[in-house]
Amino acid sequence: MAEGATYDPVVSKHLVRYGMGLSPHVIVKARGATLWDQHGREILDFTSGQMCATIGHNHPRIVAAIEKACEGALHLYSGFVGPAVPALAGRLAAMLPPSLSKSLFLSTGGEANEAAARMARVTTGRYEIVGLNGGWHGVNGGIAGRHHVDYGPRKPGTMSIPAPHCYRCPIRHCRDACDTTCLDVGFDMVDAQSSGSLAAFIAEPVLSSAGVIVPPPGYFPKLQAKCRERGMLLILDEAQTAFGRLGSNFAFEQIGVVPDFLTVSKTLGGGLAIGATVTSEAIEQDCHEKGFVHVTSHVSDPLPAEVGLAVLDVLEEEGLNQRAAAMGERLSRGLATLKARHEVIGDVRGHGLLQGVELVKDRETRAPDAERGRAITDACMARGLSMNIVAVGGMAAVWRIAPPLNVKPEEIDRGLEILDDAIRSTG
Ligand SMILES: Cc1ncc(COP(=O)(O)O)c(C=O)c1O
Repeated sequence: MAEGATYDPVVSKHLVRYGMGLSPHVIVKARGATLWDQHGREILDFTSGQMCATIGHNHPRIVAAIEKACEGALHLYSGFVGPAVPALAGRLAAMLPPSLSKSLFLSTGGEANEAAARMARVTTGRYEIVGLNGGWHGVNGGIAGRHHVDYGPRKPGTMSIPAPHCYRCPIRHCRDACDTTCLDVGFDMVDAQSSGSLAAFIAEPVLSSAGVIVPPPGYFPKLQAKCRERGMLLILDEAQTAFGRLGSNFAFEQIGVVPDFLTVSKTLGGGLAIGATVTSEAIEQDCHEKGFVHVTSHVSDPLPAEVGLAVLDVLEEEGLNQRAAAMGERLSRGLATLKARHEVIGDVRGHGLLQGVELVKDRETRAPDAERGRAITDACMARGLSMNIVAVGGMAAVWRIAPPLNVKPEEIDRGLEILDDAIRSTG
């Protein structure tokens, strides 16, 4: 991730550089899909902040929820809750199938995944957790996924299998349509390496940070069947996909599985820190009986729960699922037009308002063009469009385009025009 990242020397003078670069634009104000820097320059935000501001920056309902929490309580002893915490748990339960009715509220997505993994280990009495290569589940140590090079050994029992990426098939088998052989091969490898202690599998419904990789239809039911055969639980990490991003309340509604654990975070807080681990009554009861402990300083804090309730209100009141589907369609149509115009765009893929654009030197070899990708990203910023390049490196260069769900059609069009112009300017 750190490769090619640039740090503004003034901004980062006393800051630890954490891997993704720091822009000279100091953001002094954010509203909806627009940011303003210290010089009053307007920037269109096509990343929803760090993929969290799905209902738009500083939505008045979020501001009101913060004020309400300030009137009430911001933080409590972990054995107390304010009214928003059970209310949010009830609200989530009402949105979810009966088997997902118990919530634990934490501060981040990584924490929510860690809690799910810990509960899976407690309830199964096993310790191995398997993930998808390139999947990102936070920086906590006990969950599988992307390699954390240079940080010493991973937690024993974490493994990963190839991700179903048909544009760059990890097992060199498919091209452009995944037939899920990678899943069979992956589980063969898991079986060969397991010590017989498989507890859970963790996956994102769309692998976002890995380059917006969309598993093919039928992938998740097959994955879940493989889990069941082995007595493993399924953890679905919906940090980015829950609450509208893909045009539905939850991505799992579209992929044909109900997980044993659902984790949500970024999009529940709308820009404030919250994470939640949701599971069944039976798993919760079993973990409780087996002595499950997971206390953090901010478990069940009232402030983020109040904000979470406001986010769910806005999701419903503004019909954001429908808007995300409609704006996603507009965005992907526009990106397809740009692909027809510019050789550097090798692939456009995604779902709803989560779109990925793969940058290549040559469409036949599909050699990634990270350098041009960075140049275009910079040219976009110079024209007032903030774009995020993910999966940079030897393997791929992909823009992840994900504006707030209530982005206006004219903002989508303006972003596409800027992108078109920026690509031309670097050609
Ligand atoms: C799918 C997914 N899960 C988990 C996380 C980790 O969330 P956090 O950074 O809040 O710990 C992220 C963050 O990018 C994510 O994209």
